[in-house]
Amino acid sequence: MNNSNLLNPFFFPEHKDIPELYRIAAIEQKSYLVNGVMKTWQGAMQEVFSPIYIHHDGKLEPKRLGSYPLLNRTASLEVLKSAQEAYHSGKGKWPTMSVKSRIACIMQFVKLMKEQRTHVVHLLMWEIGKSLKDSEKEFDRTVEYIIDTVAALKDLDRDSSRLKKEQGIYAQIRRGPLGVVLCMGPYNYPLNETFCTLIPALIMGNTVILKPAKIGILLLSPLLEAFQKSFPPGVINVIYGHGRDTVGTIMETGKVDVFAFIGSSKTANILKKLHPKPNRLRSVLGLEAKNPAIVLPDADISLAVEECILGSLSFNGQRCTAIKIIFVQEQIKEQFIQLYLERLEKLKFGMPWEQDVMLTPLPEHDKPAYLSELINDAMQHGAQVLNKNGGLTQNSFVYPAVLYPVNDKMRIYNEEQFGPIVPILSFKNINEPIDYMVSSNFGQQVSIFGTNAENMAHLIDPLVNQVCRVNINSQCQRGPDVYPFNGRKDSAEGTLSVSDALRVFSIRTMVAGKENEGNKKLLTEILEGRKSNFLSTDFIL
Ligand code: G3H
Repeated sequence: MNNSNLLNPFFFPEHKDIPELYRIAAIEQKSYLVNGVMKTWQGAMQEVFSPIYIHHDGKLEPKRLGSYPLLNRTASLEVLKSAQEAYHSGKGKWPTMSVKSRIACIMQFVKLMKEQRTHVVHLLMWEIGKSLKDSEKEFDRTVEYIIDTVAALKDLDRDSSRLKKEQGIYAQIRRGPLGVVLCMGPYNYPLNETFCTLIPALIMGNTVILKPAKIGILLLSPLLEAFQKSFPPGVINVIYGHGRDTVGTIMETGKVDVFAFIGSSKTANILKKLHPKPNRLRSVLGLEAKNPAIVLPDADISLAVEECILGSLSFNGQRCTAIKIIFVQEQIKEQFIQLYLERLEKLKFGMPWEQDVMLTPLPEHDKPAYLSELINDAMQHGAQVLNKNGGLTQNSFVYPAVLYPVNDKMRIYNEEQFGPIVPILSFKNINEPIDYMVSSNFGQQVSIFGTNAENMAHLIDPLVNQVCRVNINSQCQRGPDVYPFNGRKDSAEGTLSVSDALRVFSIRTMVAGKENEGNKKLLTEILEGRKSNFLSTDFIL
């Protein structure tokens, strides 16, 4: 679609316009996974609608995708009991199982998961409006993440598969599980980011209660059977429903050992505060960010524009790593803005299955109104929308708005828009963007654009202490997943990467004994007789 079609009511498709391959049947998800059983829910259900509207008889109607259960407090507590019993205070089958056997369960799951690729990818498009290409990327990246996690665990296990001797004491040091993990992912990566905590939590021997993201719920349905077939009962449980009835109820019991959450700090804080034993609870959090781009006068402008377009508008700016504010040096601001607008004009918008589409409908129902508030507020404080049709809204679709000049009176200056608004401001002195970052509540990443080694080096040194990743002439991003993904200040708690996540969901624990004849004999008997899964020198190949 080109820009002039924006006001065309046929922006959204008629049923006949949807390619047959991508049509989808409603999923009535009437059951939830508890203690290895798909239990039928008899209570209230929540209907799910797509952000994609269908043009029908002169009206636009959101496509109904199905429904899922709204579990109550009793059902949620039953799920908690299942996870607790499977963990059995660390005595359960799963936490005491050998690493090799746990890996076998995970690999069985990957095999079954791969069979559901098409179904999950189509649901990603329909539920969150992600383009086909990015939905496929999300699925494949998740599979790759699981396989890399298995490889990382084998490495970790090999390093621990020997006894040490220090000051006359033998010891074997391994990593052990922590207990029951409550795992919640975000709607923008409902598969990938959920699995980036779920899989390491499971593989380290914890038992898990998984609550899907607020949007992107049905896409887990095709995987429930795979969970059921791959893990012992109670090791993974999947719940649905309102937060206060489900995760709120579970946290209040104080029986959750690890809270793994990617989403808003508001929800994270509410849930953490409900836990009555804060010292017992470990949290792994990925929260808001407001990553700036800083464009220096000697930057390669076309490269900077290309990376800023990707950084600010991939998946409509709905990435925690998105570039959410752009600082351009005064001398080059006109050139940068002009090129940015030209490039934006060429971005294809439309339905997720359309080839090369980048801008698609937004899944959060209240997002268009929120974005419009931010745009109006910025305009009241002196900004202009620089691009034609900027901010134009049709139901769930919002065309990107480029705002300039942005200043500190505007909400967009500090608030994380998590959507297609691109705030730009110019600076004379490099201390202006640096001071912005110092006083920001967030500290995830920054992108800096320039070619002068001296200037760039002077910028890198203070910025590495403001954020956790300084991207040089490149957009901000999480990947590759083997690199650490974290943040300072309000942006995160804990570090996630393939190998860091294994550490986050486990604790170093050891078996130790003084060197004497009795212990030597005992240790030899246990090791040679392969009597323990923990105290073992077996080497996983
Ligand atoms: O939403 C936050 C994601 O972790 C971003 O990941 O940079 O690979 O898109 P990404």
